[in-house]
Amino acid sequence: MTQNEMKQKVAEAALAYVVEGSIVGVGTGSTANMFIDALATVKDKIKGAVASSEVTAERLRGHGIAVLELNDALQQVDSLSVYIDGADEFDPEKCLTKGGGGALTREKIVAAASSKFVCIVDGTKQVDYLGGFPLPIEVIPMAESLVMGIAGKLSGEAKVRAGFITDNGNIIIDITGLKITDALALENDLNEVPGVVTNGIFAHQRADVVLMGTPEGVQTL
Ligand code: A5P
Repeated sequence: MTQNEMKQKVAEAALAYVVEGSIVGVGTGSTANMFIDALATVKDKIKGAVASSEVTAERLRGHGIAVLELNDALQQVDSLSVYIDGADEFDPEKCLTKGGGGALTREKIVAAASSKFVCIVDGTKQVDYLGGFPLPIEVIPMAESLVMGIAGKLSGEAKVRAGFITDNGNIIIDITGLKITDALALENDLNEVPGVVTNGIFAHQRADVVLMGTPEGVQTL
């Protein structure tokens, strides 16, 4: 089975977590795109969706799925029923690295506004420690040199993502070559740096459920 076929299977399996009549949080990336296409088949059963990026909002609308602003959705409900999204890595504690597509801030916001986070991945994303995939940090442009200086003191190598601006008008600094042994502590530490909007460690907003596609089928972790 190819990686894409495994992604397709988990995207379809995630439909089981869609709560009828509710507002669903929807992530960003190739696996999330497959989920959006699957969600279209049950679009009449949900109230609508909150998107974690402009690209996702466009794809949802393309399928005729109602897209709500998060602030409007939270006028109607206390929390979104579920947030469904991919990840770049997940560890045994279901902590994640996200933001390969640069949508980490909105992804973390929508995940925090949801009662349950269902993470949909293929088996290549499973790791013992986060950090093999470059860790993205969204930074207010004015703070680029400050954050580069601080990120440079970590064990990895920090680089500004060339030619990339987030949906929020900020830059991304990627740190490669980390071995993250305490995801919660590093998430907290990076968030303390002035100018950092979000970092791509999802330890506070870790997954509640991971659906992992393998050649043998979908595993629920
Ligand atoms: C987007 O910013 C990311 O957090 C994605 O969720 C992550 O990169 C996974 O993407 P794929 O599903 O394309 O692997």
